[in-house]
Amino acid sequence: MDKKQLDEEVLKRRTFAIISHPDAGKTTITEQMLLFGGVIRQAGTVKGKKSGNFATSDWMEIEKKRGISVTSSVMQFDFDGKRVNILDTPGHEDFSEDTYRTLMAVDAAVMVIDSAKGIEPQTKKLFKVVKQRGIPIFTFMNKLDRDGREPLDLIAELEELLDIEGVAMNWPMGMGKGLKGLYDIYDHRIELYRPENDDQRFIPLNEKTGEIDGDHPLKEDSIYQQTLDEVELLAEAGNTFNLDKIAAGEQTPIYFGSALTNFGVETFLKSFLSMAPAPASHQLQDGEVLAADESEFSGFVFKIQANMNPAHRDRIAFVRICSGEFEKGMTVTLARTGKDLRLNNATEFMSAQREQVSSAVAGDIVGLYDTGNFQIGDSIYSGKQKVEFEKLPQFTPELFVEVTAKNVMKQKSFHKGMQQLVQEGAVQLYKTYATDDYILGAVGQLQFEVFQYRMMHEYNSEVIMKPIGARTARWIDPEQLDPKMSSSRNLLVKDIQGQPLFLFENRFAENWFKDKYPDVKLKSLL
Ligand code: G4P
Repeated sequence: MDKKQLDEEVLKRRTFAIISHPDAGKTTITEQMLLFGGVIRQAGTVKGKKSGNFATSDWMEIEKKRGISVTSSVMQFDFDGKRVNILDTPGHEDFSEDTYRTLMAVDAAVMVIDSAKGIEPQTKKLFKVVKQRGIPIFTFMNKLDRDGREPLDLIAELEELLDIEGVAMNWPMGMGKGLKGLYDIYDHRIELYRPENDDQRFIPLNEKTGEIDGDHPLKEDSIYQQTLDEVELLAEAGNTFNLDKIAAGEQTPIYFGSALTNFGVETFLKSFLSMAPAPASHQLQDGEVLAADESEFSGFVFKIQANMNPAHRDRIAFVRICSGEFEKGMTVTLARTGKDLRLNNATEFMSAQREQVSSAVAGDIVGLYDTGNFQIGDSIYSGKQKVEFEKLPQFTPELFVEVTAKNVMKQKSFHKGMQQLVQEGAVQLYKTYATDDYILGAVGQLQFEVFQYRMMHEYNSEVIMKPIGARTARWIDPEQLDPKMSSSRNLLVKDIQGQPLFLFENRFAENWFKDKYPDVKLKSLL
């Protein structure tokens, strides 16, 4: 396509991830969005009913059964003049470093919160990573059809726990069985919950008074007056809507609704797509910034997924396109090695099926079949000018295992597999300070299962993993380190760069350490 077309296409892209704690309703809201996008015709297509009793070691089976891991990793559809890419951030037993890294490939995030539960641990973790990036975050307070917590209380908790300003875009008129509708502050209308006719769904509000002009049965309802009072209070005491703050991720617009009953979802989608940014520029390692409207192709690998078919050793490398247009069969340079690669075999992502990619532009994701060329964080580019994106951050692992080869005669394949999988970013590797024993670290249990599976199937190396459990990893300045600081409550190890860190048994052990050595600085990764 010519430059003008390319620019237009890029400007239409909206690429985001949905973050939430398991069960808040991420799948349900995703499905509603896919319905609006015309990708699926019926809810319940993305994931079957959860049976919830998978053992994590059934990982490959889960992949096969659900058939979702790759196909629903990225979902693309057109809505309201935009080309939308939703990147999945798996929770439950799929939670891994890939989940965090996916957040490096989006331009905005949607945070779904269960309005009966408020901010839950996984939301908090994911939010921290998004906040660090300074990208816009849009909040959907879900399950309004059930009795939940008071809206003001939810916003106060969000602001306090996440350290971000909240600004209500609409306000619930009742909840649970008493749910009447949403008072839409920004569209100046009331959206009725389950109106008798769809053409009665919206009641316009007078922009000056904020009230319904003329007669309407709703005006007789006490919830109407109560909502007007609450909205007035919000206008006086709440935060002022500020697009610049939203763009910088310092303020989050908050929408209420119910994904299950498809209430408020379309309004939310339209509103947030109108505010969410088109593909952003990216920071390069040489200090330059690469704009999304550069015409040469460039992108980076943010996730590598082992193939589901054990007969093939290939994997799929997920590439976020940062500039230009991807064309099947194009030749690109891999920045890390300087080697040229022809990209013949690529896939684009639709919800229900995988299709051969035709063309994709900045903001889109392509999946490249990989036989071992790529590592997580790799940059590829088509122009003459070298493009190398900033390194992806490493995330503080929370789970640890001791790992050894089952068969001592097979040390060579053990070491080779270990080295390659660690380099690829599948798990993090540490060695005990004193004895050089191998310790693996991960943010989710699944990473260990995948590691073990791939060691067996790709490197023919059976590994034994002895769980150490959850630990708090804290790096220490080598200058300040005294091996005597190591005790039974903390394990002293070093990372692959040789940097020392303590794996504390828990927060108490960490605090005890801090009390004992007040001058020692402890650091975590992201
Ligand atoms: P997740 O992807 O964030 O883990 O959540 P998911 O959408 O699977 O939703 C978790 C549960 O919450 C599901 O019920 C779902 O039907 C329900 N849910 C989602 N949105 C709403 C909502 O707006 N209102 C109400 N009342 N419930 C909602 P489940 O019974 O646990 O799962 P399933 O057996 O129906 O799949």
